[in-house]
Amino acid sequence: MKACFMGLGYIGLPTAIIAAKHGIKVTGVDINPKVVEMTNQGKLHIIEPGLEEILQEVVKSGALKASTTPEVSEAYFMVVPTPFKGNHEPDISYVEAATRAVLPLLKEGDLYVIESTSPIGTTEKMQRLIFSERPELKDKIYIAYCPERVLPGNVIYELVHNDRVIGGINPQSTREAIKFYSQFVQGTLHSTNSKTAEMCKLTENSSRDVQIAFANELSLICDKAGINVWELINLANKHPRVNILQPGCGVGGHCIAVDPYFITAEFPIESQIIAKAREINNYKSFWCAEKVQNEMLKFELEHHRKPIVAMMGLAFKPNIDDLRESPAKYIVTKVMQSCNNANILVVEPNVKNHNVFKLTDYNEAYDKADIVVFLTAHDSFKSLPRCEYKIVLDFCGICK
Ligand SMILES: NC(=O)c1ccc[n+]([C@@H]2O[C@H](COP(=O)([O-])OP(=O)(O)OC[C@H]3O[C@@H](n4cnc5c(N)ncnc54)[C@H](O)[C@@H]3O)[C@@H](O)[C@H]2O)c1
Repeated sequence: MKACFMGLGYIGLPTAIIAAKHGIKVTGVDINPKVVEMTNQGKLHIIEPGLEEILQEVVKSGALKASTTPEVSEAYFMVVPTPFKGNHEPDISYVEAATRAVLPLLKEGDLYVIESTSPIGTTEKMQRLIFSERPELKDKIYIAYCPERVLPGNVIYELVHNDRVIGGINPQSTREAIKFYSQFVQGTLHSTNSKTAEMCKLTENSSRDVQIAFANELSLICDKAGINVWELINLANKHPRVNILQPGCGVGGHCIAVDPYFITAEFPIESQIIAKAREINNYKSFWCAEKVQNEMLKFELEHHRKPIVAMMGLAFKPNIDDLRESPAKYIVTKVMQSCNNANILVVEPNVKNHNVFKLTDYNEAYDKADIVVFLTAHDSFKSLPRCEYKIVLDFCGICK
């Protein structure tokens, strides 16, 4: 079987590689020529442990070939970005562009699947687009939505072992999509319709966002009440049916900080908790920046000099190098702007160089700092010595 994956990013590339490894002849398509060139050379342009070896194997055997244009296949997968626009409206223009690129190649019996996280109704929208341009294919091709749930860093295992939700525009489409994924997925493939599958992905990420917002709200209350929020959550979680997540300096990344807006944009009246959770998680980052600025001011009044401040972490979660939508990056930027960049040491041990921030080694920054601000709970920070002379603002539970 021949398959074409449109988009070779964090999700599309590993999926294309794993499909090729399982006997499918894959064309991986990306509009970025650098991505295509690297892939054909067997080099990964993303960080994913163990994946480069498999890439080299499938490129060498001819099972995977990358290209800037799609090739005639029996199955086509849209794995392109779905960001939001300035007003938090979802932007499905990449999905539409990728669909238009494969439109001329579609023929009777083909399978067309969207994997990109998408607002409800996107699959049906693309169905209308396909049939308006190629009316002769009506009821002759299979169209489905199948969201991705993998955790970058553990992709090889999760792509094969996670359960997946597959929703066709009709039962035949669902069946054909399930037939395709059964070639390499060992998890259970759950069938539904396309709208439910789209909403399922948005629900999963909104649920995480709401749960984190609860923990962040507790952290604000506890700060005012003089209670250690980490101890509080630990104690509350001793209840057999309570499982509160950990607070942080906000919520970031490509998914949880973005996908809930796909619901709130379309259902503003109904999605009260989802919208409020977004607000709380965004506010937590603003609050953290204000806290740092207040502490700096207090220090200056007491010591008659400006403090040296170490901002520990830029990534949106522990032990990764991903800075997309990172609340830590927002806080560092806001604090630096407030003091004209003076005496701020920026630390991110998982990134070598950054085009905006001059990065400092974490040991050096910790040693030099009067105020240490923990923004991301990287493991490396946990081994730093405790120094009672330093002012520590711990927003992510390093010292709990
Ligand atoms: N990264 C994750 O952890 C994750 C998890 C689940 C779902 N998702 C969803 O999967 C989708 C893809 O995410 P990603 O993280 O892989 O994105 P990414 O930005 O890493 O990769 C997308 C790739 O698509 C390419 N592209 C853009 N337009 C194209 C077109 N018209 N034709 C071919 N290629 C094109 C880009 O050049 C890029 O290389 C998004 O909808 C995202 O929300 C991501």
